Amino acid sequence: MPDLFDPIEVRGLRVRNRLWVAPMCQYSVEDRDGIPTDWHLVHLGSFARGGAGLVMAEASAVVPEGRISLHDTGIWNDDQTSAWRRVVEFVHGQGAAIGIQLAHAGRKASVFPEWGYAERGDLPIGDGGWQTVSASPVPYDGSRTPRVLRIDEIAAIVAAFAQGAERAIRAGFDLVEIHAAHGYLIHQFLSPISNRRDDAYGGSLENRSRLLLDVVRAVRQAIGDGPPILVRFSATDYVPGGWDEEQTATAARWARDAGADFFDISSGGLVPHARISVGPGYQARFAGYVRRTAGVPVNAVGMIWTPRLANELVADEVVDAVMVGRQMLRDPHFAARAASELGAPTAYWPPQYRPGVHSQA
Ligand SMILES: Cc1cc2nc3c(=O)[nH]c(=O)nc-3n(C[C@H](O)[C@H](O)[C@H](O)COP(=O)(O)O)c2cc1C
Repeated sequence: MPDLFDPIEVRGLRVRNRLWVAPMCQYSVEDRDGIPTDWHLVHLGSFARGGAGLVMAEASAVVPEGRISLHDTGIWNDDQTSAWRRVVEFVHGQGAAIGIQLAHAGRKASVFPEWGYAERGDLPIGDGGWQTVSASPVPYDGSRTPRVLRIDEIAAIVAAFAQGAERAIRAGFDLVEIHAAHGYLIHQFLSPISNRRDDAYGGSLENRSRLLLDVVRAVRQAIGDGPPILVRFSATDYVPGGWDEEQTATAARWARDAGADFFDISSGGLVPHARISVGPGYQARFAGYVRRTAGVPVNAVGMIWTPRLANELVADEVVDAVMVGRQMLRDPHFAARAASELGAPTAYWPPQYRPGVHSQA
């Protein structure tokens, strides 16, 4: 029976345990240049110090216009690459692995960040905003209508993902994750709700999956055989006629054949008013379905906020690993605490902090 604190191998990368940190945008690039700052070093570094096996850096744009907001991190130039290296080295020094989520926001780009501004929604062009792009001219909620990507522009985006991946590996990241979830560009191609194309990138499941598969293949070619590739899917749009678990499982199998290794299963984000009933581990059933149906390794994410639930999902072999988001924000030492609580063979508290831990009542 696997344990949450058993190491796991992903394409030859040994990760010290199966309690991982979910990617979380910080909208903290004050200079609007996509370069991660001290905030990112401390933010991501804390989770590594806190015992997580894998720390996933936030959605980082592969081109400037792929950013959600002007304050997103990027991985499209050398300055960003060297700034990431500092974060990567600290995380490695704490014994954790680190990956980066490669992203393009498509029609959900060019908005005000979730905090720091009174305004919400589209960032006006005059304030540094830009015309968004997507599979089809279908807007998200009340936001601006995206411009349809031409085939040559799709090819350029695929190349940008490959270059981003190559930069990430050059910065020392152990793996890359392709963001195909939460209603961002690749998901906009996957879902029949946002993809109305009638060319090679629209229509059938195979055609709607083409952008994702092109990206996986190009990334694999760019980074070579060694580093793992994760893909984050939204398993369902929660809308009849939208993207669903079955299509996710099929696309996951195709993505594995194209060079991906591991699947991070989330849900939603394509339409704003989907009816989602949330609760502890609410997305784990989707992850379990993809694992069983496609025969691929997966992690679950979504309100996995107690050591017990995290361990059960792994021990019951519903999933191979779990990612934790908001609970990590509340307690960056959640993994070390979970290891103590579950009696894991390894103590994850850093030596500097042991006096504090051992003097706890
Ligand atoms: C502040 C914040 C930022 C997030 N940014 C991202 C992101 O960059 N990429 C992504 O795929 N998901 C993002 N998410 C979603 C998380 O990765 C995770 O899937 C979600 O929070 C559910 O996990 P949780 O219930 O443990 O928080 C974000 C969530 C939060 C709370």
